[in-house]
Amino acid sequence: MTTAYRRPLLAGNWKMNLNRLDAVELVSSLMPSLAEGGCDVLLLPPFVHLFPLSRLLAGTSIQLGAQNVYFEPAGAFTGEVSAPMLQETCGAVLVGHSERRTIFGETDEVVARKLRALLSSGMSAVLAVGESGEIRDSGMSASHVLMQTDAALGGLDQEQLSRCVIAYEPIWAIGTGKSATQAEVGEMVTALRQHLVGSIGADAEARLRILYGGSVTPANAAGLFAIPGVDGALVGGASLDADGFTAIYHALCASTAQADGGQ
Ligand code: PGA
Repeated sequence: MTTAYRRPLLAGNWKMNLNRLDAVELVSSLMPSLAEGGCDVLLLPPFVHLFPLSRLLAGTSIQLGAQNVYFEPAGAFTGEVSAPMLQETCGAVLVGHSERRTIFGETDEVVARKLRALLSSGMSAVLAVGESGEIRDSGMSASHVLMQTDAALGGLDQEQLSRCVIAYEPIWAIGTGKSATQAEVGEMVTALRQHLVGSIGADAEARLRILYGGSVTPANAAGLFAIPGVDGALVGGASLDADGFTAIYHALCASTAQADGGQ
């Protein structure tokens, strides 16, 4: 049996929130409490906060990422930001978030091009996938999520895959206060992992981290982190509150310590 260690990851997706002073204040209060738990932390602020926060976080283990990227490296693309530009201030980008897909019309093809662009610039990717409520009701959740995953990861080599993280985020659970149940998350993560063994190989699957996202709170975090195959969370609303995000971080580190102790 493969026993690859996947270091747990807690990612905070701030979305379009916080002005610069609030952003600096939030990160300043997070820094001491997220220092030594043995889990990775990735903060995803709006573009304009990346530079000041990268200076604040220099020398700490807290990583910074962007919420979006354009797939061309440079040129006449008003309002867009490219991977080579981002790569100067942060190491990762979130792609495929359902808000990008539904509000901004990003297709699987666009998501795949963005993913390739940022991997080519040496960055890491958090790929969000997830089904709508209608798709879940129709019983097609797993096939939908597997299709989105294949469309994004298909054709990547092992080194590129090692820089990817998947975030399973059912759309109906995002920002609704109604997280998916442990059974729903467990079923999807099992389906994803089984599928990935076939599509990218057992070694790459064993190293690939899968996060859950969608109304993660301090109250439900421990239960979600106890699900086999879940390596952390992508947190939206609760990442804007220092105490809440810290509590989720501690729940993740505790679940890892427990899993290690139980081996
Ligand atoms: P939420 O958002 O935690 O507020 O549900 C998650 C996300 O959109 O990544």
